[in-house]
Formats: sequence, structure tokens, C-alpha cells
Amino acid sequence: MSKKAWGGRFSGEALEWVEEFNASIHFDKVLLDLDIKGSIAHAEMLADCGIISAEDKDTIVDGLHRVKEEADKGNIEWDVKHEDIHMNVEHALIELIGPVGGKLHTGRSRNDQIATDMHLYVKEQVLSIIQSIEELQNTIIKIAEENIHVIMPGYTHLQRAQPILFSHHMMAYFWMFKRDKERMQDALKRIDVSPLGAGAISGTTFNIDREMTKKALGFGDLYHNSMDAVSDRDYIIETLSGINLVMIHLSRISEEIIFWMSEEAKFVTLSDTFTTGSSMMPQKKNPDMAELIRGKTGRTTGALMSMLMLVKGLPLTYNKDMQEDKEGLFDAVTTVLGALKIMNGMIDTMTVNEERLEQTINEDFSNATELADYLVEKNVPFRDAHEVVGKLVLKCINSNQYLKDLSLEEFQAANRFIEKDIYDVLSPKTVVDRRLSYGGTSTESVKQQIKYAKEII
Ligand code: ARG
Repeated sequence: MSKKAWGGRFSGEALEWVEEFNASIHFDKVLLDLDIKGSIAHAEMLADCGIISAEDKDTIVDGLHRVKEEADKGNIEWDVKHEDIHMNVEHALIELIGPVGGKLHTGRSRNDQIATDMHLYVKEQVLSIIQSIEELQNTIIKIAEENIHVIMPGYTHLQRAQPILFSHHMMAYFWMFKRDKERMQDALKRIDVSPLGAGAISGTTFNIDREMTKKALGFGDLYHNSMDAVSDRDYIIETLSGINLVMIHLSRISEEIIFWMSEEAKFVTLSDTFTTGSSMMPQKKNPDMAELIRGKTGRTTGALMSMLMLVKGLPLTYNKDMQEDKEGLFDAVTTVLGALKIMNGMIDTMTVNEERLEQTINEDFSNATELADYLVEKNVPFRDAHEVVGKLVLKCINSNQYLKDLSLEEFQAANRFIEKDIYDVLSPKTVVDRRLSYGGTSTESVKQQIKYAKEII
């Protein structure tokens, strides 16, 4: 049996099933590259500060590169006996270069080491999430521009409310993702901080240079308190919160797409690539990808919840509980990146069924507000106008017609101020295009919105 790094203190035997429970190597092995990067920066700093010799440093750095190469070739067997990625790498290093490898851990603890690895990991992933959000935003702009004039029903309470432009509806998501991106960018300030050199808890007696490792690893700042450095997991919680808002937004748009794809709505058709069939019902084309995004949002929410629970009662500083910060985060990162990519492809290849939307929007009462506003312009108090229109709607429902089907006489019987221009006023296109207020759904306002969106992306 191989000797433990802490073997000196121990005389009892280690049991494999206990080691199995204790280990994190199954999942923290994904940190290999970053762990080696951190170790190289640390070794170089140790040599520059005269704590280890230049020769030892060269041997160690060379050895670390070799560990990486051997690992990539699959020649290193990760072992629960060495618990985690840090001890496995150190073990492999000593096997390759001999006892000098043991000098690497001078002035460092696994506590600041794992914190460093995780900061590097989260930074890398957040940057790629930001990029994926941006790609999706561009696709949203593209589909909005391609369908700039298409009118669809806008809903409140999932009841037809007022006609809107499809492009306006899509652009609403652009702004949600803009906020998501900003949240991620803001979190970067707190992610991009070096804990390296905090030691186990209190710093170190060696004359290390934390600025140097900070710079070498490309961090923008460093922790100013060693205890905070090793116990802070806020940045993981923040990242998970940010990821979850992205997922929630993706889930909401998924829900809409699922509805739009239904036989009842038929507003859009998803491409074959982003749908699946049924094993039994030959006619089916199911929006599985959208459903999965909606479903996976539950998973990422779970990761955030467990992270919050994890740190809730933890005293300073490092506690082994913190090893549990990884799997949920890794999974959430993979999930959000996958979901963003799928959503991007799904929207990019989606067909908007303009004719069907046109028919839909002409067969509802979503122009009722327009008639009320028309009467208000003729000096009828809004409350009274509301009442008049409500009665007309009821009349139409009872006689199976829509407002536009009423004769001018019928309109005038309801209110004598109504004139024949009412038919144009009630047409969905007029309804939409009169909404010229800033941020409204008129073609002009939406074009202005898209122009601004393009400027700021
Ligand atoms: N595998 C550990 C983790 O992920 C690394 C830090 C271990 N530190 C310790 N003092 N046992 O949290």
C-alpha cells in the first residue's frame, strides 16, 4: 500500500471503502490542467523568491509538464488512495522526478490550491457562457429582423391580449439575456481573484510573493485575508445564480416554443434537427429539445440550492464539506452551455408560420382595447368606452363573429361617435403600428429597438 502524504501522523490502517467516500478524484480530475498551471506558477514564484533553487524549479516544472502529457496519454491511473487531483498529481510527480517533487508544496496548502483551481475554472467557464449568450443574442436579432413585420397574438394570463410583432416578442428575450450577460460580467470581478498563497488558513512563514502568482495566473486581484481566501465560495453561488437565471430564461422561451409548436397554435415549425418522432405514433414531431431545456432547469436549480445549503452553517475556514461544491457546479456549467447552444440552433432553424399567424390574429378580440381607445379619442371617458366595447364583444361572441364583422350601423348603435374609419383602426397592422411609444411594438419602435440592440451587443 502506498504511503499517505500525511502518513507520519497515522498508524491505523486505511480502508478502501472509506477512502472511496473521502475521495474527489472521480470528479475533480477535470481540474488537471488548471491544477498544473497553478502549480507551475507557484513553483516559479518559489524559485524567484529564493525559497527553492532554480534547478529544483526546472525539474519540478518539467515534471509537471510530463505529468500532464502522461495523463493525456492515459498513462496515469488516478487513485482514490491519493484522494483528489492535487495529491494524485503530486504523487505522479514524485514518481516521475523523485523526492524533489515533494518541494512543490512548500508554502502552500490544498486549501488555497483548490480555491485557486476553482477560481481559474469558474473564470474560464463564465467567459464561455458569456460568449454563448452573445451568440444566442445575435440569433435572436437575426430572426427578429427576418420576421420584422409578422404579427402575432400577445398574451396575458395566456389569454389573447393585444396583437404584437413576433420580432418584438423575440427581442424581449434579447434584453433578458443582456441582463444575464451583465450579471456574469459583474460576477467576474469577484471570480477573478487569486487565493494562492493563503496557505491552509493563516498565510505562510515563507517569504512568498502573492502578486507574482496572481499575475502569472492572469488574475485581476488577490484576496486580502487568508481566511477569507480559503473559505470563500460566494463566487460559486453567484455563478450558479447567474446560470440559473439564464436557464430560467431559456426555460421560459422553451415553454413558449412548445406552445407555438402545438397543433392548437402552429405558430412556428421547428426544424427536424431539433425535434424527435414518436416510437409509436407516426404523425408526431415533438419539441424534445425545448422540453429538455425546461426539464434541465430543475437540475441547475438543485445545484444552486445544494451550494447554498452547503455553506450555510460552515465556520471558517476550510471544511471538507466544501469538496461538495464541485459536481453540481460542473454539471450546471455543462448544462447551461449545452442549453444555450441548443436554443441557438433551434431558433436559428425555426420557421415562423406567417400565414397561420395572420389568420389567428384576425380571429380574436385582441383589438378590443383599440376600439376603447378610439372612443376615448372621441372624448368618451375610458370606463364608459370599456363598457361599450365589452358589450360589443359579448354580442359578437353570442353571434359567432368578431369586431371587424360588425356593420357600421351596429357600431353606431353602440356608440354614435364610431365612424367608418373604425375598420382600419381595428386591423391588426394598424393596432400594432400605432404603438409608437418608446419600447412599444410598432414596426418603427421595434426597428429602433433592434438598432440599439446591435449597437450595444
Ligand atoms: N479535495 C479537496 C476539496 O475539493 C481539496 C482540499 C482538501 N483540503 C483539506 N484540507 N483536506 O475541497
